[in-house]
Amino acid sequence: MTVTIVGSQFGDEGKGGIVDVFGERADVVARYQGGDNAGHTVVHEGEEYKLSLVPSGAVRGKIGVLGNGCVVNPATLFDELDALHERGLDPDVRVAERAHVIMPFHRVLDGLEEDVKSEDDIAVGTTGRGIGPTYEDKAGRRGVRIGDLLDPDVLRDRLAYVVPQKRALVEQVYGLDLDALDAEDFGIEVTVPEAFDEDALFERYRAFGERLAEEGMTVNCGAFLARRRAEGEQVMMEGAQGTGIDIDHGSYPYVTSSNPTAGGAAVGTGLGPTVVGQGAVVGIVKAYITRVGTGPLPTELGHVEGQTPPEGGDTSERGQELATYIRDEGGEYGTVTGRPRRVGWLDMPMLRHAATASGFTGLAVNHVDTLAGLETVKVGHTYELDGEELETIPATTEKWAECEAQYREFDGWPEVDWSEVADAGYDAIPENAQEYLGYIAAELDADIYAVGVGPGREDTVVVQDPFDA
Ligand code: GDP
Ligand code: IMO
Ligand code: MG
Repeated sequence: MTVTIVGSQFGDEGKGGIVDVFGERADVVARYQGGDNAGHTVVHEGEEYKLSLVPSGAVRGKIGVLGNGCVVNPATLFDELDALHERGLDPDVRVAERAHVIMPFHRVLDGLEEDVKSEDDIAVGTTGRGIGPTYEDKAGRRGVRIGDLLDPDVLRDRLAYVVPQKRALVEQVYGLDLDALDAEDFGIEVTVPEAFDEDALFERYRAFGERLAEEGMTVNCGAFLARRRAEGEQVMMEGAQGTGIDIDHGSYPYVTSSNPTAGGAAVGTGLGPTVVGQGAVVGIVKAYITRVGTGPLPTELGHVEGQTPPEGGDTSERGQELATYIRDEGGEYGTVTGRPRRVGWLDMPMLRHAATASGFTGLAVNHVDTLAGLETVKVGHTYELDGEELETIPATTEKWAECEAQYREFDGWPEVDWSEVADAGYDAIPENAQEYLGYIAAELDADIYAVGVGPGREDTVVVQDPFDA
């Protein structure tokens, strides 16, 4: 069977940690979408690993696969692998030949489009990793795939078509001079003119292709995973991002450009939906909510400059206080960008939507320890929109932004020794927290597989292993 890990909110729900906990039984851990916009944290023997591309299971000796639904920046991949080698690990990572390649010009274009949008206050607040422009080229049938890097003639042809277009876009549409742009602004390792130079790109990417080939890293993803499964191995699918920023099911256009929902796991690995659907689908839920970037967040507490929309957030003194408390207790600062995350109370309409979109068989609820010590814990149970009560989010983002959360209050739970709780099991979780967890499970009609009570693997209360579900 397979176990698919899906973010049920806006990303950063603690997916990496749960992959680490339940990846124990897996032989292969495959990412199915996204790229180095992800930041997944795994804490192992006191060592913290922040991974943006290498699948979380690779830290523990599992085979990591970047599926065909991913967009891969080879520079980041090799940097991350080299850094892990320096820390004494030897991760085995394979990359789908059908995955698309992020080029330096994609990062430049990501930055330029955000700049233009920011003039009208409609920037998404992307991670600047070139994700959107790369998926655009994939859908536009002008992308470069990992397999193309291994064949110099094909690579030449692909670049010959796409690079002049990109140069013309910058020079003639944006009206900018490539020489006047600073590579540092886009975090690229080549100069901006080189990022738009066919020959320079050819040399650099051919070299990446050679390294991929020498290290035997490329695979025909679906066939590879099917073969492993036929040999009796277990596959875990590691989602990145979350439902709220899914390009179809999220707050479009304030989204990423892929499908983090469970359907993405089938398309993005080449295993069929029946395979994914016969397995477990685990919704990762943070006990409150966070968001990086702009877009609606009806239960938001406080206000983060440059991210919270002008009308959004509870900007009362108490709202700000709670936001700061939760942000600091939970370490809610972006893994990739270091930006403070927007925070708010749990949003049940959003979770109901996520459960519908992915068909969760069970949940892992993280950060229950972070809320400890609060007198009252609130949940946006429903929304009110134009005098009507809604159980789930409206389909248009503008309407979503107008929704007012209708709260339910729970008595808070005390700060306790969470490692003891993790050792002792579910019944040792403070009673009021159990009530809160029971409410979430009942509303989403899903079992609870695990409860996160701290950042490490040992700080997890395991209720049921999804591989046994
Ligand atoms: P991901 O992107 O979904 O993998 O999540 P991130 O790694 O971006 O963010 C989750 C952060 O919360 C990391 O720093 C984790 O170590 C931490 N974390 C995960 N689960 C828990 C938990 O149950 N309690 C606490 N206190 N921290 C957690
Ligand atoms: P993990 O896997 C949280 C957000 C960005 C931005 C929007 C689009 O760690 O949960 P992009 O660079 O993807 O085009 O940005 O999506 N975003 C994330 N937010 N966690 C992530 O990944 C994210 N990946 C992208 O902040 O709002
Ligand atoms: Mg993250």
